[in-house]
Amino acid sequence: MFVRHFVLAFALAVLASGFSSQPGQGDSCIVPGSGGFFNSIAARYDLLNQVISLGFHGSWRTSAINKILPAQSVLDISTGTGDLAISVAANRSIRVVGLDPSPEMLKVARDKVNRFENSIGDIRLVTGVAEALPFDSDSFDAAAVAFGVRNFQDRQKGLNEMSRVLKPNGKWAILELSLTDGDQLLDRATRLFVTGIVPRVASIISGNRKAYEYLSDSMRKFPDEKEFCKMLEAAGLVVESQKRLSPLGMGPFLYSGIKSSDRDN
Ligand SMILES: C[S@@+](CC[C@H](N)C(=O)[O-])C[C@H]1O[C@@H](n2cnc3c(N)ncnc32)[C@H](O)[C@@H]1O
Repeated sequence: MFVRHFVLAFALAVLASGFSSQPGQGDSCIVPGSGGFFNSIAARYDLLNQVISLGFHGSWRTSAINKILPAQSVLDISTGTGDLAISVAANRSIRVVGLDPSPEMLKVARDKVNRFENSIGDIRLVTGVAEALPFDSDSFDAAAVAFGVRNFQDRQKGLNEMSRVLKPNGKWAILELSLTDGDQLLDRATRLFVTGIVPRVASIISGNRKAYEYLSDSMRKFPDEKEFCKMLEAAGLVVESQKRLSPLGMGPFLYSGIKSSDRDN
C-alpha cells in the first residue's frame, strides 16, 4: 500500500511536470507562507496536497474533525481551499466558518461549496488572519487548524486568538507537519521524503520555485512537540492528546484538547 502511494506520487509528479511554470514572476516581496504566497499556488494546491500527502490528507483531516465534534459551531482557521470546513458542514446542523487570508484559496473553496451546496450546510468564508480573528470572544464550540499554524506570521498570537474565540471547554485540534530528529530508520526515511522528495514535487506541481524552499524550511523550523505544547498551554489551550499520524507514524502531528475553563480572555 505504501509502495503503491509512492509510485502514484512519482507518476503524478511526472505528469505534473508538464505544467507551465511561473517561477519568481513579481513574487520577490511575497512573504513565504503568507496569503499572497498561497494565492500563487491556489489553483494547484489540491493536487499538490494529494501528491505530497500520498493521498492521506483526507484521513488526516478526518482524524482532526473527530477530535472536535460534536459541536454546534466550528471555526476552521487557515481553511485554504476549504476541505476541513466542507467535511464538517456535511453535518447540516453545524454553523461552520472558514477563515483564510488568501482570496485565491478562498475562491477555490467557494467553488467547492457551490458544487456541494445540496449535500452540505451553511459555510461562511471569511478573509482574515489568525493573529486578528474578526470574531467575538467565547463564540465557537470548536476550532481547528489544518496545516496552517506553520504559516502564521506570529504563532503565539494566532494561538492566543484561537483560544480567545473558543468558549470555555471548547474543543480544538491542530494538524501540523514537522520533522523528527530521531535516528531510527523510519525517522531518517521521513526526513529524506520530506526534505528531499516533497519539496521537489511541490516545486514541479506548484510551478513556484519558492514552494520548493518554503515547504521543507518551514517544516524544519516548526517547534518540536515539547515546545509547541508549551505555546499551546501559554495560550490557555489544554493539550489532551498529541500523536503522529500514519503512514507508519510518518504523517503530521495531531494535537488536540480543550480551552481551559479559567482562561481569562
Ligand atoms: C497549507 S495551507 C492549509 C489549507 C487547509 N487548511 C488544508 O488543510 O488544506 C495553509 C493556509 O494558511 C493560510 N495562511 C497563511 N498565513 C496565515 C495567517 N497569518 N493566518 C491564517 N492563515 C494563514 C494560507 O493562506 C493557506 O491557505
